Amino acid sequence: MLTLAVETSCDDSAVALLEGTRPLAEKVSSQTVHAGLGGVVPELASRMHLEVLPGLVESLLAESGTSIRDIDTFAATAGPGLVGSLLVGLSWSKAAAFATGGRFLGINHVASHLFIHYGDETLGPVSFPAAALVASGGHTSLFVLESWDDCRFAGGTRDDAAGEAFDKTAKLMGLGYPGGALLDRLAAEGDASSASLPSPLDDPDLPEFSFSGLKTAVRSLLSAGTKPEDVAACFCRTVSSILSTKLLALAASARARTVMAAGGVSANSFLRAGLAGECSRRGLDLRLPALRWTTDNAVMVGRAAAAALEADPSACSPFSCNAFARWTGTRLGPLACA
Ligand code: KG4
Ligand code: ZN
Repeated sequence: MLTLAVETSCDDSAVALLEGTRPLAEKVSSQTVHAGLGGVVPELASRMHLEVLPGLVESLLAESGTSIRDIDTFAATAGPGLVGSLLVGLSWSKAAAFATGGRFLGINHVASHLFIHYGDETLGPVSFPAAALVASGGHTSLFVLESWDDCRFAGGTRDDAAGEAFDKTAKLMGLGYPGGALLDRLAAEGDASSASLPSPLDDPDLPEFSFSGLKTAVRSLLSAGTKPEDVAACFCRTVSSILSTKLLALAASARARTVMAAGGVSANSFLRAGLAGECSRRGLDLRLPALRWTTDNAVMVGRAAAAALEADPSACSPFSCNAFARWTGTRLGPLACA
């Protein structure tokens, strides 16, 4: 079962070829046009996807010696994300499915971040129940999974997403965009206990986050003359401790056997180290994505498609499947349009 997966929800154009859940080849083109602009400019992002996507698919197929006619399933992110960007990948995949008679699947982006752990051959099957965190530039949400088919939203952010807080803080510090990885790198040279930042909504059992107030606290530290590397380290320590404390409290209340994290922020070295220590102390199986699969990629889209087909081998999305900017729901599944 060959799947050609496409991800264009923001500023990375990504394509992957998978046999079931096993990636055979992948290509990513990250847009650099936004670098000096302080954030992603939606129209520029859509235009870049339109320009690079055909070439990416062509080189993916050439590299793997596959003809587009051999593809069974064309899966593309339908949302949430930037609508103009999503429309490019979505329309490309529908057209390819229409032309070749293949199946088309519209995939939920939040679910696909989490489904990078589905069918992971290196660590084996996930033991349920599981508590999961998806933290990226657009989302910070907690979930309880009783199985891959039963994923319940437990709570999320009231304002900024965790990645957005990293990006805004980095911008404030003049570090550039996207800021998460830059802050993480700078933090390695700083002292994380040199200052303290507020921890809003700090009841561990409340599965909700608020990150918008951190910017003001960072601004005060900077104007008090705290060294940038110390500010970066304190910021990384504070955000990762908020995320891991709430994720682990959820794991305890759900009697979870596994803890999973996904999304761009799951690349953060403070968060990864903190979760690794706590999970090993508590005897929990921890699933973190390989670093290249923390941020937007198409392998996760292909694995979400594989999960949808495992649950229902006749699953198929209609060609009327639309792009969407936001996801609000209580149950999360891989399919955006069924
Ligand atoms: O998952 P992703 O590629 O896109 C969305 O779906 O939003 O996540 C991108 C986000 C950005 O906000 C970026 O600053 C953040 O992930 N990020 C990090 C790190 N690497 C990327 N945040 C903290 N530490 C990192 N090492
Ligand atoms: Zn994402």
